[in-house]
Amino acid sequence: MHTIVLATQKGGSGKSTLAIGLALAARQAGFTVRLIETDPQGTLSSWQRRRTSEDLVVEPIYHAADIAPRLKMLADSGLQLAIVDTAAGLSAATTAAIRHSDLCLIPARPSVADIEATASTLSVARAWKRPFGFVLNQTPIRGQRIDNAADTLAEEAALDLAEVLARPLIAMRNDHQDSLASGLAVSEFAPNGKSADEIRGLWRWIETRLELSATPHLPIDQLVSAADGMLHATSELSADETTTLAP
Ligand SMILES: Nc1ncnc2c1ncn2[C@@H]1O[C@H](COP(=O)(O)OP(=O)(O)O)[C@@H](O)[C@H]1O
Ligand SMILES: [Mg+2]
Repeated sequence: MHTIVLATQKGGSGKSTLAIGLALAARQAGFTVRLIETDPQGTLSSWQRRRTSEDLVVEPIYHAADIAPRLKMLADSGLQLAIVDTAAGLSAATTAAIRHSDLCLIPARPSVADIEATASTLSVARAWKRPFGFVLNQTPIRGQRIDNAADTLAEEAALDLAEVLARPLIAMRNDHQDSLASGLAVSEFAPNGKSADEIRGLWRWIETRLELSATPHLPIDQLVSAADGMLHATSELSADETTTLAP
């Protein structure tokens, strides 16, 4: 079983939205998935109550000590993917989840404050030697500002950008808010929309990253081609005018 944790100190960065979006994208890619809610605010449970379909279980686990044993039980039961949503801040439950993750995803809006706020989460992931990746979410405008945000993140991580910055960037669009309000994932709410496309792309990046994390010494040519691909994607994004908040 793979365990993915969404964590960052800052509220409103998109942890819960991305957890739901990725859960459905992974399910559509053929994985058996469970959403684990460690945030007592209960965004995922509320979402599930609005959902008519019972195909995706949201399991609340609020006590740090329960996380590792429950993840082990789920793994033993044959589950393929657990996606853990965490509260803002850095609680004991969040630290426990990161410690037992295969990948810690750190969402950040492309602002200095949000990016700086990733440092404490990053230090936990590093302390437990957990693979991590940044997800730039709610990116409003193209061009220089986003590139700056990407560079700042790379400096924080002191690692090759292509390996730690998830692609694609997730633009700010109403589809994310509307799907959450309707008890749907974005790939169900607007399956042919750009937001759904981006989330499916993010899931593919995660799948690749999960494989790479088993290979500590990435061959240099793979790194170079990943960086090249990322630069191309960024320049394509720069030309894309449709990613401002659109209906
Ligand atoms: N890419 C996005 N585009 C538009 N709205 C978004 C996007 N990601 C998140 N949101 C909205 O931002 C708000 C905060 O997101 P949420 O997932 O609850 O953050 P967190 O769990 O980190 O506190 C929600 O209203 C959500 O619908
Ligand atoms: Mg949340």
